[in-house]
Amino acid sequence: MSHNTLILVLVLLGQNVIAENLNITSPPVTDWGEWGVFQKCPEESRAQGFQLKTEEYQGMLVDDSALNGVRLFCGDPFNDTTPSITSSVGDNGNWGTVYSCYPGNIVGFQLRVEPFERSGDETATNNMRVFCSQYEDESRFIEGDGLNEFGEWGETMRCAENQGVCGIQTQVEDCSITSMF
Ligand SMILES: *[C@@H]1O[C@H](CO)[C@@H](O)[C@H](O)[C@H]1NC(C)=O
Ligand SMILES: *[C@@H]1O[C@H](CO)[C@@H](O)[C@H](O)[C@H]1NC(C)=O
Repeated sequence: MSHNTLILVLVLLGQNVIAENLNITSPPVTDWGEWGVFQKCPEESRAQGFQLKTEEYQGMLVDDSALNGVRLFCGDPFNDTTPSITSSVGDNGNWGTVYSCYPGNIVGFQLRVEPFERSGDETATNNMRVFCSQYEDESRFIEGDGLNEFGEWGETMRCAENQGVCGIQTQVEDCSITSMF
């Protein structure tokens, strides 16, 4: 059975562009697949919106891959001139809703992960929540349109004060079709 997984490394840049980069990585619940390329937003821009590539729930007998890609927008996601970055993206699924923190920026994330085998299929990362800099309530988030059927929300990863997400690296297993029979 194939497994698709996706783990994020997000680099943080200080308000001051020469401030040191830090990486925040989601807890390593699964370790399938190759790490994709590390992509960063253009200098002096940071992630202000996101979009998920998700494969819908396929049913019990089909191998699910769930979240297959994350796109970060380096600016207003609804402005056509805004560049975006993706790291590696799996073949299956469709890009969903575009979510925006603009004019704020992304300052943290949380992944919904299925850590171990339950119904005979593992989907690894299923959904993602994002925290925006302009929310005074730190518990407020934007939840993506991934799948919430499986797994649990993991640890919240947050930038330090005055830092924002400006890069991404994902781990996705190549799509392979396998039959259970
Ligand atoms: C962050 O991760 C990237 C990509 O893996 C790596 O090139 C960079 O050296 C890391 N930075 C730090 C400060 O660990
Ligand atoms: C879109 O972004 C460009 C480049 O930052 C900016 O010049 C332009 O005013 C923006 N357009 C809108 C409609 O916000």
